[in-house]
Amino acid sequence: MWPTAELHVHIEGTLEVPLLLRLAERNGIDLPTTDADRLRSRCSFSRLQDFLDVYYEHLDVLRTEQDFCELMLAYLARATESGVRRAEIFFDPQSHTARGVPMAVVIGGLSDGIARGREAYGIDGALILCFLRHLGGAAALATLEEALPYRDAFIGVGLDSSEVGFPPSLFADAFQRAAAEGLRRVAHAGEEGGPDYVWEALDVLGAERIDHGIRALEDAELMAALRRRAVPVTVCPLSNRALRTAPHDLAEHPLPVMFDEGLVVSVHSDDPAYFGGYLDANMAALRDAGVVDDAVEGELAANAVASSFLGTEGKRALFAEIRAHAEAIGAPVPSRAVAG
Ligand code: ADE
Ligand code: ZN
Repeated sequence: MWPTAELHVHIEGTLEVPLLLRLAERNGIDLPTTDADRLRSRCSFSRLQDFLDVYYEHLDVLRTEQDFCELMLAYLARATESGVRRAEIFFDPQSHTARGVPMAVVIGGLSDGIARGREAYGIDGALILCFLRHLGGAAALATLEEALPYRDAFIGVGLDSSEVGFPPSLFADAFQRAAAEGLRRVAHAGEEGGPDYVWEALDVLGAERIDHGIRALEDAELMAALRRRAVPVTVCPLSNRALRTAPHDLAEHPLPVMFDEGLVVSVHSDDPAYFGGYLDANMAALRDAGVVDDAVEGELAANAVASSFLGTEGKRALFAEIRAHAEAIGAPVPSRAVAG
């Protein structure tokens, strides 16, 4: 496994069925079924909203700090198996505070999990607070204010949930406030929404990374701007396949075109418990489709590290690990990892 950074994973989307069942029982919560296979069979979607409906229903089992800590620790343990050395992890606080779970419980439990994961697996985790776009701009700003007492526990803000009908410009105030606090800014755009959503994320929100962004391909000027500004795009192939936002055959996925056109693309897992697997599964599926070989996988891993919010020293250390891995498997050193 190439050492790399995971930049697009929703912690609530890592809730695997066994943990879902255990937490439901521990917290006395009724699920639609307690049959593991039936729960798994709910993971058949034809669009983003189908998935989100199941995702919000399942995350209701998360109630206590211990629950959030266990979820995080389970994710970090699994991520290390995919070569992940740095993880910038999304969380959706509004999906919890709206159910009466205090912000302190959410952030406290997740932070505790990150600290334990660092100790146990040597993985460097960080949190990115996402606003739920279907709840609107005023709620986003209020959520940020509610989280600011825990400012040191997260590195940035993001934007997720139902895309079409909720354009990035609705969230200008929240993102402006986040920037004033020195928080990093990312946004989902161009997943189901068109290139205009990506333009708004860049030019209205000041997004430093675009999550998904696959519909950027429909706008040559936007592709040129992403390339010229070197804005990283975090691409999630198994998610796109599961939500039918890209062709089922990964040989026809936009990733290779984005890569060939010089965009800073990297591969990520989005909601691995729902879409068929973690970073390693995404890479294996791309390999099976003939889209990726050792050399391209190395470039994608190095792109992920370059696109992370690590400082110079942190990136330098991971690039050194990437060079060592290239040597060990006899692959070329990825271009972004060449300089020491
Ligand atoms: N929340 C969790 N996963 C998401 C996705 N793929 N798109 C938008 N919001 C999400
Ligand atoms: Zn996502």
